[in-house]
Amino acid sequence: MDADTTTHRYEQLADLIVRMIDNGTLAPGVRLPSVRAIGAQYGISISTVLQGYRLLEDRGILVARPQSGFYVAATQGGTLALPSTSRLRSKASTVSISGAVAALLEHASNSALVPLGCAVPDAALLRSHRLDLALARAARQHGAHYNVYGAPRGELRLRREIARRAMRIGHALSPDDVVITSGCTEAVTLALSSVAKPGDTIAVESPTYFGLLHTLEMLDLKALELPTDPTRGVHVDALARLLDTEPVAACMLSSSFSNPLGSLMPEAQKRELLALLARHAVPLIEDDVYGDIHFMRERPRPFIALDGGANTIYCSSFSKSLAPGYRIGWIAPGAFAQQVMDRKLAFSLCSPVLPQVALADYLASGAYDAHMRRLRRLLEENLLRLTRTIEASFPAGTRVSRPAGGFALWVELPKGFDSRALFDEALEHGICFAPGDVFSASRRFRNCLRLSAGSTWSERIDKGVRRLGELARTQRTEDRGTLAVK
Ligand SMILES: Cc1ncc(COP(=O)(O)O)c(C=O)c1O
Repeated sequence: MDADTTTHRYEQLADLIVRMIDNGTLAPGVRLPSVRAIGAQYGISISTVLQGYRLLEDRGILVARPQSGFYVAATQGGTLALPSTSRLRSKASTVSISGAVAALLEHASNSALVPLGCAVPDAALLRSHRLDLALARAARQHGAHYNVYGAPRGELRLRREIARRAMRIGHALSPDDVVITSGCTEAVTLALSSVAKPGDTIAVESPTYFGLLHTLEMLDLKALELPTDPTRGVHVDALARLLDTEPVAACMLSSSFSNPLGSLMPEAQKRELLALLARHAVPLIEDDVYGDIHFMRERPRPFIALDGGANTIYCSSFSKSLAPGYRIGWIAPGAFAQQVMDRKLAFSLCSPVLPQVALADYLASGAYDAHMRRLRRLLEENLLRLTRTIEASFPAGTRVSRPAGGFALWVELPKGFDSRALFDEALEHGICFAPGDVFSASRRFRNCLRLSAGSTWSERIDKGVRRLGELARTQRTEDRGTLAVK
């Protein structure tokens, strides 16, 4: 390493590593030599090496794993281009998605199919055994005591644990600011119905989670689909132009790692968006179900931590990280506390007490943090494997997302491709995935699909992805044949 240049040595080291990643010497997922070994090799101090590694970690090029070392990020150096940014739609769409969602959910829960369609980690990854024991203990020891209508806000001990965790994401919440819900789904329903009335318009990411579209349909709300970048999320300037002409009752966004794109809006852009919405007095509803599943040094901060909750309703749950079956989510409704409580009482009165008690015990034991460290590592590896398998087996011209969290990939196939036809064919081959058009109110993204990497990687999954790639390649060849005949 050159001692005479004006560039710091840690920067020179970082440049060297980037070059080695670019030329393929260091492949994604590979562990870097230890800080000590590199220091000895280049005659530089351990703190200089660490500074270089940290610089690359902050840029998302390396990932630090506790007690293990630094790795080339799984999302680096992919050979496929990123999906395109979605186009602006200047008018809101009425949503009619319920039939397609019901059909997809039925297939996605069919364990006989290769599970590329489910947006939930499998039981082996969730490892809820300790939580289940806590539930059994609470039922055995105090079952009768908890067999009551609980507090409408939810169990105080659980709300305390949730409020304690909010401190780590940079936001001070008190237990009284939190209402326990039946998953994030109920939280989002409470939020939307509190801020909007039938016929109103909600601005959403595009593509967006089909469950949200389904909720909009059931509440008779329209969706205004915003142009969304696959890595940076919604375009704030496009939203600014729309807000000048379109009446929007609320904006509904993912806090981090949107479903299906996996995009993460940079913090400066989040602040810009919050300022814009505040100027127009449009509340923001955020969904943070994937925030804990990050592959970065720090958990990304949600919007609520950036505006202090002044104009934000925060929704989340434990469904993606620990216990989808316990159906425990929560909402921090901020200025809409009264509206949300009125609706909570009307829609479900209160949430079941025993699962809340068990989850509070589990969180207080500290087990969640250790569990999340493991889960993040496994899901990141899964995503890497899924990316590599797509690269090896999908048609030329395929594009794929590179999320730094979550466990799904958004795959864009060349224009004219029909992921609905592929879906039907894949089912016949025992494979399930989510076709692109369910992620849009205007049924766009027909040439796209979402593949989930939430199941422990296995030969069955590997073969399923390869088979899907083969089916896609065949459709491509057949298309060309049809065009040639025409
Ligand atoms: C973005 C997003 N929000 C909410 C949910 C549903 O969460 P819950 O099971 O906690 O209701 C999902 C499930 O796929 C999701 O992807």
